[in-house]
Amino acid sequence: METAYRDLTCGDARLSHVGREVALAGWVHRRRDLGQLIFLDLRDRYGITQVVIDRHDAPEAHTVGADVRTEFVVRARGVLAKRLAGTENAKLATGDVELRVQDLRVLSTAKTPPFPINEPDAEVDDALRLKYRYLDLRREPMQKRLLLRSRLVHAIREVHHAAGFVEIETPLLIKATPEGARDFIVPSRLQPGSAYALPQSPQQLKQLLMVSGFDRYFQIARCLRDEDLRGDRQPEFTQLDLEMSFVTEADVMAFVERMVIEVSRSVTPERPIANDPFPRMTYREAIDRYGSDKPDIRYGLELHSLADVAAGSGFRVFDETLDGGGVVYGFAAPGMAGAPRSRLDELTEDAKRHGARGLIWMALEEGGTIRSPIAKFLVEGRAAAIVAAVGAKPGDLVLIVAGDDIHAQEALGRLRVDCAARLGLGDPDVLSYLWVNRFPMYQWDADGHRWDATHNPFSGVLPEDEELLATSSGDPSDPSPGDPAGRARALQYDIVLNGWELGGGSIRIHRRELLERSFLLMGHSEKAQREKFGGILEAFEYGPPPHGGIALGIDRWAALLTYQTNIREVMAFPKTQSGTDLMLEAPSPVDPALLDELGLALKPRKKPDA
Ligand code: AMO
Repeated sequence: METAYRDLTCGDARLSHVGREVALAGWVHRRRDLGQLIFLDLRDRYGITQVVIDRHDAPEAHTVGADVRTEFVVRARGVLAKRLAGTENAKLATGDVELRVQDLRVLSTAKTPPFPINEPDAEVDDALRLKYRYLDLRREPMQKRLLLRSRLVHAIREVHHAAGFVEIETPLLIKATPEGARDFIVPSRLQPGSAYALPQSPQQLKQLLMVSGFDRYFQIARCLRDEDLRGDRQPEFTQLDLEMSFVTEADVMAFVERMVIEVSRSVTPERPIANDPFPRMTYREAIDRYGSDKPDIRYGLELHSLADVAAGSGFRVFDETLDGGGVVYGFAAPGMAGAPRSRLDELTEDAKRHGARGLIWMALEEGGTIRSPIAKFLVEGRAAAIVAAVGAKPGDLVLIVAGDDIHAQEALGRLRVDCAARLGLGDPDVLSYLWVNRFPMYQWDADGHRWDATHNPFSGVLPEDEELLATSSGDPSDPSPGDPAGRARALQYDIVLNGWELGGGSIRIHRRELLERSFLLMGHSEKAQREKFGGILEAFEYGPPPHGGIALGIDRWAALLTYQTNIREVMAFPKTQSGTDLMLEAPSPVDPALLDELGLALKPRKKPDA
C-alpha cells in the first residue's frame, strides 16, 4: 500500500522492518506528552503504530508534536525500532516495534470530534452518530462491519461468476413495479405531468432478461421503497437479486443453498452453520410450530395446538373460541413458573401488543401443583392435560393464546421470541438458515375487495393448485373471500436466518393466460393490466422460458453476520426512523425554479397523525 506519502500502512510494521527508515501517514489516535518524549498512536484503517518523538533526537519534530491533537492527520518519517523490553503491546499487531521520528508534518488539523473516535465501546447518541457519520465511520466497530460487508459482496460476486451468472445492471428510472410498498416517484421534466418510479426491486426487468435468454442473471441491486421503517427496513436498501431460466423450485433452492453456505464460510468461517442441508418447512408448519413465517429455530419453545384438551374444558373463552372456528395454542417457557405478578402482567401486555386478545398462563410448580387464574374454571384433570400437551416440565410457565387462526399463533410466536431473548436461548454464534415454502398464493383484502399477492404478482402457483384458480367462482374480476383461489399455494420460498426473513423468491408464471387470470383475481381489469404490466405481458407473447429467482437482503445478511439488530449498523449512510439523512439534511426544500420547470408545486401537508 506504498504511496508518495507513506512506505507502510499503520498496520504493517513488524520486527522484520526494524532498522528501516520509513514514512507513515494517518490520524492521531492518542497522544501522550511526557515532556522529553511525545508518544503518538498513529491510526489508519489497517492498524495502529506507535510513534515516538524525542526532543534530543528531533527537536523540530518535537515542536510540531507538541501542538498535534487527536484526529490531526500527520506524516511521520523515522526509523523503525524494536520497543524496549517490557513495553511491547501484545494487543497491537505492530506492538513489538515503534517509529523513532526524525521528521513530523501536519497534513490536516482537526477540531475536537463530537464524540471519541478512539473508544470503540463509547455509548454515543444515535442522532449524533448519524449527523457526523463520516466520523462514526472512522470508529473501529463501523470500519470492521463495512469491511465485512465488502467481503460479503465480493464473495457473492465470486460464487455467482463461477456458477456462470451474468451480472447486469438495470435502470433506476422505471415504471412502478408493485412489491407491496409505496413507490418513490421522480417527475419528468421532458414529459410534464408524468413521473418515473424508482424500483422497489428489479423484478420485471430480471424477468425480461430471462425472455432475452440470459439464462442466469444476478445483480447487487439498489431498491427503494417508501414504507415505514424498522430495524430491518430502510427506504433504500440492497438486494442480491438473481433469476434463472429452465428451473424448478428445487433447482433455485439448491443453487441458493450452496451459494449461501459458500459465502458464509468464506466471510465468517468461525461461525457454525446449524444445518446443512437447510431444514425446509411449509408456511403452515412454520405458523403452527413457531407462530412465524420466519422462525428462529436455534431454540425450541415450540407451540402446540390445545384444541383437543381445551374443548369442553369448562373455560368459556376456550369453548367460545373453538366453537367460532378459532384456535387455542400454547407453549412452555422453561423455568419461568416463579415469574412474579408484575412479569406476568408484562407478558400479558406484550401479548396484546402482538395482537392477542389476552394471555392465559399456567405455572407448573416444582412440586407439580398447577397455579393459574383459570384453574378454578377448568373441569377435573384439564389443567394437567393442558400442561402435558405443551410438554411442560416442573418449573415451567405455560403461555396460552386463544383467538383467530394465524393471529393467535403469531401473537404467541412473538411472545416465544421475547421469552427466548429473556432466557438467553439460542447460540448467538450459530447461523441457522432454513427454507419456508408453500405460502398461500393470495390473501384476501377486505377493504379493496380483492385478492392480494402474498409475495409478488408474478409468483407461480403449485401445479396441483392451478385448478383452484381455474375453478374460482363466478367472475374472476369480481372475486369473493370464499373463492377457492384462497386455498391456492404459491411456488414461493423464503430463506430465513436466525429469525429474520433474509430473502424471498418464486418460480414465476410464464404462461400468459394463467398470469392474466391471476391478475384478474387480484382485481386488475384487462385495461389495468395493460397499463401496469403491458410491457411484460407483451414480452410474454415472444417465448418466455420457464424461470424463477430470488432476492436476498444484503443489509440484513451483513447485519446478521456482524451480530447487529439494526441494518443501519452495516450501511455507510443510512436514514433515521423518519427517513431523514441527518448528515446531508435530506429531504430538503426544493428550489422553486426547479419545481417550475417540472410543472410542480409542493403542498404543505398536515402530519399524517395530526
Ligand atoms: P422481497 O420484497 O421479499 O422480494 O424482498 C427480498 C428481500 O429484500 C430485503 N428487503 C429489505 N431490506 C431492507 N429494507 C427494506 N425495506 C427491505 N425490503 C425487502 C429482505 C427481503 O427478504 N422481487 C422480489 C424477489 C423475487 O421474487 O425474486 C422481492 O423483492 O431481505
